[in-house]
Amino acid sequence: MTTATPRPAFGSVLTRQMAVAAYRAGRWSDFEVKPVAPIELSPAAHVLHYASTCFEGFKAFRHADGSIRTFRMDRHIQRMRQSARHLVLPEPDAAQLADMVRTLIRACRDEVPEAPGALYLRPLLIGTTANIGAAATPSADAALFVLASPVWDYFAGGMKPLRIVIDDVNTRSAAHLGMVKTGGNYAAAMGPTLAARQKYRADQVLFCPGGEVQETGAANFVLLREGRLLTRSLDSSFLHGVTRDSLLTIARDSGIEVVERPFDVAEMLEWVRDGEAALSGTAAVLAGVGTLIHHGADVTVAGGDVGPITRDLRAKLVAIQRGEAPDRHGWLEPV
Ligand SMILES: Cc1ncc(COP(=O)(O)O)c(C=O)c1O
Repeated sequence: MTTATPRPAFGSVLTRQMAVAAYRAGRWSDFEVKPVAPIELSPAAHVLHYASTCFEGFKAFRHADGSIRTFRMDRHIQRMRQSARHLVLPEPDAAQLADMVRTLIRACRDEVPEAPGALYLRPLLIGTTANIGAAATPSADAALFVLASPVWDYFAGGMKPLRIVIDDVNTRSAAHLGMVKTGGNYAAAMGPTLAARQKYRADQVLFCPGGEVQETGAANFVLLREGRLLTRSLDSSFLHGVTRDSLLTIARDSGIEVVERPFDVAEMLEWVRDGEAALSGTAAVLAGVGTLIHHGADVTVAGGDVGPITRDLRAKLVAIQRGEAPDRHGWLEPV
């Protein structure tokens, strides 16, 4: 009998190659695909002091016929350009970045796992101007990387129901930067998330400053029940997830009424008495919540399991991504 090899933790292994471009003197250089190796950076680089950085995360899937397809890459590139604008960093050129991703995937084609795995793509933009006096001056120069990582489950245990702490005090970002995918937001979530893990064995924190439900440290949040989906409407306080958008589209296609508006912790607790809750994101896909922890007390959601509506929506999205269901919205692009 053979034992299955344990999968590496999400993001812990990179492919052999990466793609790199530089922005100098007001223009982007041509890009190179080269072996992943340490980079040379001045210790005075803008990013190291003033956090001028943003990134993206999306997946490419190997289909049964051997072809490899990116999932909604155009939306992720758009969001990266929007993040760069908000951080006053040079905006990546959309066509060049798409070309970097495709060229990198072709270069590491043999490292793209078969389903249920995928290749996770991680574009990264950093301000490289060496000037420790530039606290209020943007970085004139920048570097753009695309890294890739073969991935399987994000939450170890796959479809294990999650334990989520409701935090109605802390915020994960400045109010105008929630929609920007920048490292500082993840740094802000780190302390509360580790505390929740230690104190409550929680998987994630749901940030609800002032009682308003926003999102978790690395995923959006949705409430589900028969024929109805409720999620926060888009504003600058949280990341506009591409998975969120995809799931909302699939829900509408399935005849589910989608409601986007702000809601608070009290309404959420009322909803989960007989409804479901789930986290959505590229990494999490749609992960069911089994327990919400509110002011130290466990609140069981969906009988403590992953609910049937969550499972159904997740399965529908995954089927499209893997080429097992029709791609009616043109989300997949061949590499
Ligand atoms: C803070 C945060 N919210 C939401 C998401 C979900 O975004 P997407 O569905 O585009 O991956 C992510 C990334 O996965 C995230 O880091």
